[in-house]
Amino acid sequence: MPATTATAPGKIILFGEHAVVYGQPALAVPVPAVRARAVVSPAPDLPRGEIRITAPAVALENAPWHGLPPDHPLAKAIALTLEAVNATPPPALRLRLSSTIPVAAGLGSGAAVTVALARALSAFLGHPLDNASVNVIAYEVEKIHHGTPSGIDNTVITYAQPVYFVRGQPLRTLTVRRPFTVVIADSGIPAPTAEAVSDVRRAAQAEPERFQALFAAVGRVVEAAYQAITHGTPEALGPLMDENHALLQQMGVSCPTLDRLVATAREAGAEGAKLSGGGRGGNIIALAPANAPEAAQAIARALESAGAARTIIARIG
Ligand code: PMV
Repeated sequence: MPATTATAPGKIILFGEHAVVYGQPALAVPVPAVRARAVVSPAPDLPRGEIRITAPAVALENAPWHGLPPDHPLAKAIALTLEAVNATPPPALRLRLSSTIPVAAGLGSGAAVTVALARALSAFLGHPLDNASVNVIAYEVEKIHHGTPSGIDNTVITYAQPVYFVRGQPLRTLTVRRPFTVVIADSGIPAPTAEAVSDVRRAAQAEPERFQALFAAVGRVVEAAYQAITHGTPEALGPLMDENHALLQQMGVSCPTLDRLVATAREAGAEGAKLSGGGRGGNIIALAPANAPEAAQAIARALESAGAARTIIARIG
């Protein structure tokens, strides 16, 4: 059996995070500039059923699969994949995972690792899983990372296409009529999404009317952004990003560092900017002006000078 490799892209949420957990739509796009990779190879030196995992990002070096707790994301991803292809016990194999996606930064590193793993492992075992099955596995593993995920991360990463996502509804891909450029800047503050999501839940329970109004307002921003993207008027996205950021501030998921980076991006020429993902840290995104190709570089440099740990310039569409 030859080695099998699969990769999966990072992702970024353009609009609608948090409100998406409460049934509002959200827009997300893959970020192929960063990727997770899984390589599965035969291990003739090991007994049947043995899987050894090497994953430097989580300090695993040739670690036995059975030694991991069952709720470890990698253990769960392996177990669900083996179950899906009816391969228990599996032949002895080695699994190597690597990723250029920053961890806990809102770029979907967890979901991308699961998607790459499920694809490589199922293909190695002779039963490559289709997207729908991979998506189900990635969603189950997301629950470990995020508690009550909406499913947006696993969906956009599995299908590797821009999506208009509504929790529990069939996939709708998004046609980008005119490409646009966003600058993604990592605040360098690791931000566990589960915490932000549960804080919003608590706050929404304490003030249901105010939060329902905030979620509905985000829904309207998302619909307007959807129109702008599909009708080829991406310049309309800047003010919508500003509006979405203000609504996220009111939900309590921004923080001084994110607010500062958002302000820096606007001062450096961005047409709008917002936090992206769970908030409290992680990333911001900023819309670069369409008619000035060097503007994205200038915004990225300004963000780095203001303390961003790294920036990615992503062409969408
Ligand atoms: O932090 P991220 O990019 O994985 O985004 C989470 C998005 C939330 O809406 C905050 C949670 C969810 O499950 O949709």
